[in-house]
Amino acid sequence: MRFNLGLASLLGLAGSAAAQQTWAFTDPNTGIDFQHYASKNYSFSIAVPETLGTDFIGQLVIPITSTGGWGSVSLRGGMLNSLLLVAWADGEDIKTSFRMAGSYANPDVYSGSTVNALPIANGTFVNSTHLAYTFLCENCVNSTVTNLANETPILGWAISAESPTTVTDSASALTYHGAGFGQYGLNIAAAKSSKYATWAAWASSGTTPTPPTTPGTPGGNSTLPTPITSNVTYDTIVVGGGPAGIIAAERIAESGASVLLIERGPANTVALGSSLGLPWNSSLTPYDIPSLGSSLAGLSGTTFCSDTASTAGCLLGGSSSVNGLNFIRPPSQDWQRWPAGWQWEDVSEAASRLYERNPGTTNPSADGKHYNDHTYQVLSQLVSAKGWSEVDSIESPNEKHQVFSRPAWSIKDHLRAGPARTYMPFAKELDNFTLKLNSKVIQVNRNGSAITGVLTLEADGSTQIINLKAGGKVVIAAGALSTPRVLWNSGIGRAADLAIVKSGSAQTGVTLPAEADWIDLPVGHHLQDHVQVTLQFNDASNFTAYNFKGIATEPVEDDLDLYYQGSGVITQAAQRMHLWTSVDSADGRKRFLQGTASAMSSGVITVRTFLTHGTSTVGKLGISASGNTVLETKPWLIDDNDRTAMSDFIQFWLDLTSTNNSTLTYVAPDSSVEDIISKNLISGDHWVGSAKMGVDDGRQGNGTSVVDLDTKVYGTDNLFVVDASIHPDLPTGNTQSIIMITAEHAAEKISGIKSSPTTPETPSTPTPSASSTPAASSAPSCSSKKRRSKRTFRF
Ligand SMILES: Cc1cc2nc3c(=O)[nH]c(=O)nc-3n(C[C@H](O)[C@H](O)[C@H](O)COP(=O)(O)OP(=O)(O)OC[C@H]3O[C@@H](n4cnc5c(N)ncnc54)[C@H](O)[C@@H]3O)c2cc1C
Ligand SMILES: *[C@@H]1O[C@H](CO)[C@@H](O)[C@H](O)[C@H]1NC(C)=O
Ligand SMILES: *[C@@H]1O[C@H](CO)[C@@H](O)[C@H](O)[C@H]1NC(C)=O
Ligand SMILES: *[C@@H]1O[C@H](CO)[C@@H](O)[C@H](O)[C@H]1NC(C)=O
Ligand SMILES: *[C@@H]1O[C@H](CO)[C@@H](O)[C@H](O)[C@H]1NC(C)=O
Ligand SMILES: *[C@@H]1O[C@H](CO)[C@@H](O)[C@H](O)[C@H]1NC(C)=O
Ligand SMILES: *[C@@H]1O[C@H](CO)[C@@H](O)[C@H](O)[C@H]1NC(C)=O
Ligand SMILES: *[C@@H]1O[C@H](CO)[C@@H](O)[C@H](O)[C@H]1NC(C)=O
Ligand SMILES: *[C@@H]1O[C@H](CO)[C@@H](O)[C@H](O)[C@H]1NC(C)=O
Ligand SMILES: *[C@@H]1O[C@H](CO)[C@@H](O)[C@H](O)[C@H]1NC(C)=O
Ligand SMILES: *[C@@H]1O[C@H](CO)[C@@H](O)[C@H](O)[C@H]1NC(C)=O
Ligand SMILES: *[C@@H]1O[C@H](CO)[C@@H](O)[C@H](O)[C@H]1NC(C)=O
Ligand SMILES: *[C@@H]1O[C@H](CO)[C@@H](O)[C@H](O)[C@H]1NC(C)=O
Repeated sequence: MRFNLGLASLLGLAGSAAAQQTWAFTDPNTGIDFQHYASKNYSFSIAVPETLGTDFIGQLVIPITSTGGWGSVSLRGGMLNSLLLVAWADGEDIKTSFRMAGSYANPDVYSGSTVNALPIANGTFVNSTHLAYTFLCENCVNSTVTNLANETPILGWAISAESPTTVTDSASALTYHGAGFGQYGLNIAAAKSSKYATWAAWASSGTTPTPPTTPGTPGGNSTLPTPITSNVTYDTIVVGGGPAGIIAAERIAESGASVLLIERGPANTVALGSSLGLPWNSSLTPYDIPSLGSSLAGLSGTTFCSDTASTAGCLLGGSSSVNGLNFIRPPSQDWQRWPAGWQWEDVSEAASRLYERNPGTTNPSADGKHYNDHTYQVLSQLVSAKGWSEVDSIESPNEKHQVFSRPAWSIKDHLRAGPARTYMPFAKELDNFTLKLNSKVIQVNRNGSAITGVLTLEADGSTQIINLKAGGKVVIAAGALSTPRVLWNSGIGRAADLAIVKSGSAQTGVTLPAEADWIDLPVGHHLQDHVQVTLQFNDASNFTAYNFKGIATEPVEDDLDLYYQGSGVITQAAQRMHLWTSVDSADGRKRFLQGTASAMSSGVITVRTFLTHGTSTVGKLGISASGNTVLETKPWLIDDNDRTAMSDFIQFWLDLTSTNNSTLTYVAPDSSVEDIISKNLISGDHWVGSAKMGVDDGRQGNGTSVVDLDTKVYGTDNLFVVDASIHPDLPTGNTQSIIMITAEHAAEKISGIKSSPTTPETPSTPTPSASSTPAASSAPSCSSKKRRSKRTFRF
């Protein structure tokens, strides 16, 4: 079996009280009586005073593998908005830090309050197999970030067999918790002891964990080896094989240019070399299966980036290979704050080209039925009673006030669609298109304003220079959380950010161009994201939820039979309704709000609420000396009008579900809206704007833009950006469709191709037998082969 399923969803299971799974344990090293939880090689133990105050005593025991490792306790069960304590061994030392995650990415160092961990000496050591860390946790019982004050607290655990990226730095980025994670119920009553005060007094402040090192402190030695210069050159090199990069690369290659597409991660499909074949069908990966779309974060093997400020997919297809499949055709209003030449009238042909290949669907099951439909029935009754109308968001994208729709998904032929499936087959038909996987672009090389090529880091640790042909172009499409890093590493950005990159050079091996050649642009400055607050409601019918994650290992047989006929619940993604409305705010802006409903745990209907188009808050992306992008300013609800719009929308849901007619009740009935926001606000995963497009050249005066209207980086001759980074505003719905349209339009500008090229007949989706080998690291290969087979993927 290839996948270790987590014991519980990563999302807090508010509706289902987990049984208490801890037992009494007296630790021989300290003599402390704990309540103890153990899983695999991990254990966490806890002791509290008879009257719970603000502190507790905890003990983490974490395995150390040949590649190190780390372990963590979540004091609120799930990963998001929970106080986490992370520990790992640095030689004989133990590094610890409090963390908090606003998304399924590297948790930030927690800075919210005065929590403190003081070690207890005889329970704190590193031996050849484990580390043990016994500590007094001061000010850690805080109901905003832990649930220890609950009657039956749920705690969480996570371990990794790989050390954090910089073991000497307690603020280091963590690797994915690939060795396991889960949740359990704590018997807190049994953890109470009259001896607590005695034990707590053993904690010393003498060996307080080392504070995070300041940015720039050399941590490791990652001097990059001398690069080999590839003897193959290209007209266009595209950096990043996400939705924007694939579309740009394929369209530019169609225009006749030779194109190299470089993707840092592995393939998404077995046909292209993915090793994640499912136990029940080795030619399909979890990425392919629509109904697994919201469960990928809980399957080990899913390739998320470990160096981005928030969740991002690091594989072919980028986040479009790991996302929830929601495919919202953007309404024309989404371009209202874009510059001239980028209004709906200007991009509508690009939209048509996209929809021809990747239309999206509200009805993916071949038999026309909607399966597992309870949530849609319950919610449509509630909002219909408020006068909202049912629409089909594919047919009527402009209707976004008081409407609800069957969810629209990027699904084609019963598989996850997106450019990795709907454009790659066309790319493979082209002689001049080359795909290079598992190769990370460190920087673009340039001579002043002229880009000459790229420097890559290969999977085996070697480096390469790949040069452009005369008159060539580099197109960056590394995603809104990574494109800024490529620019900064290339000496493009504000001096403050470039200084951090320079200070980290000993850790990252990145050598910036000479300071005189830096191009002063506001990279990272206009970062935006949809605000997301997850609301959970208990449903009176106490339905049994569909076991989505079970599909990864052992799908229900009848459902699998139906799936092979192109029908049934497995052809659907996990959402059950999309809905939108809008409000006119005091500042004159119209703000849009979205709800995305699903039912992933029994008896509980979840509505993810989003503040979308009209959001005025802007944040700032930054970079750490060790090379991770970080959220310097989180772009959520800073503007009062944003906060009011979001609060009112949450209140709308509380009111809606409090009427006599409602079968839903909010899971924590007495919560205030403020409380709900502070506990449940997370990233919308819809990042844009970190290298904004506009006419106001960011090198001048108060200019805010990084790329011009041809998507060319100001101050360069031949460097372009085509991904979410350039979007100057947030769309009304989820981001992937408008990102694809923008890349289509940008490709036309970059290559001069005109409207609809004579599209070849749809080539076959790659099948396992017709695979092509990803490029070897020394000489890019995987050049396309001529194939005109008309076989389609059979179901
Ligand atoms: C968990 C999650 C769920 C989401 N759900 C939805 C949804 O349901 N619907 C929706 O519309 N949107 C959703 N989104 C958002 C959507 O997927 C993204 O907005 C979209 O994928 C961004 O496209 P992009 O091309 O700009 O960048 P990305 O998708 O981030 O692609 C960038 C690519 O570049 C590669 N790369 C990065 N750096 C380098 C480098 N230095 N060298 C080489 N390659 C590099 C990456 O590996 C990646 O493949 C979700 C996002 C996430 C993270
Ligand atoms: C652990 O250390 C404390 C304080 O130094 C001491 O009182 C206690 O007896 C020790 N426990 C054991 C089992 O030795
Ligand atoms: C426990 O850790 C060891 C290595 O320290 C590893 O070999 C073993 O597989 C782990 N056991 C489990 C159940 O994970
Ligand atoms: C509890 O945590 C919140 C969020 O970090 C913080 O703002 C607050 O100050 C904490 N309360 C106490 C009493 O420490
Ligand atoms: C290391 O310490 C852990 C935790 O006390 C213990 O379980 C393990 O057996 C120890 N390993 C060795 C080799 O002593
Ligand atoms: C860093 O790595 C290089 C090359 O491997 C080596 O020559 C050098 O001695 C190392 N420096 C340190 C401080 O470890
Ligand atoms: C590039 O180098 C490889 C070996 O390193 C060689 O096989 C190939 O023929 C060379 N190609 C060109 C175009 O010179
Ligand atoms: C491939 O690219 C070269 C330029 O590098 C161009 O001359 C040639 O016509 C292209 N071939 C095709 C089939 O498009
Ligand atoms: C696996 O799925 C493919 C695509 O649906 C199908 O053609 C094939 O028959 C399946 N294999 C098995 C063993 O069911
Ligand atoms: C850089 O460009 C200048 C012209 O702008 C040229 O004279 C010089 O030779 C170039 N340097 C290199 C190393 O190519
Ligand atoms: C809901 O059903 C589950 C089992 O399906 C049961 O354990 C639970 O008590 C029920 N809850 C309510 C509120 O009826
Ligand atoms: C309750 O349902 C009835 C019948 O569907 C409807 O007429 C009424 O307006 C609803 N009341 C509320 C408060 O939504
Ligand atoms: C920049 O903005 C400030 C404040 O709006 C204004 O006073 C100043 O003149 C602007 N500078 C330029 C060069 O446009």
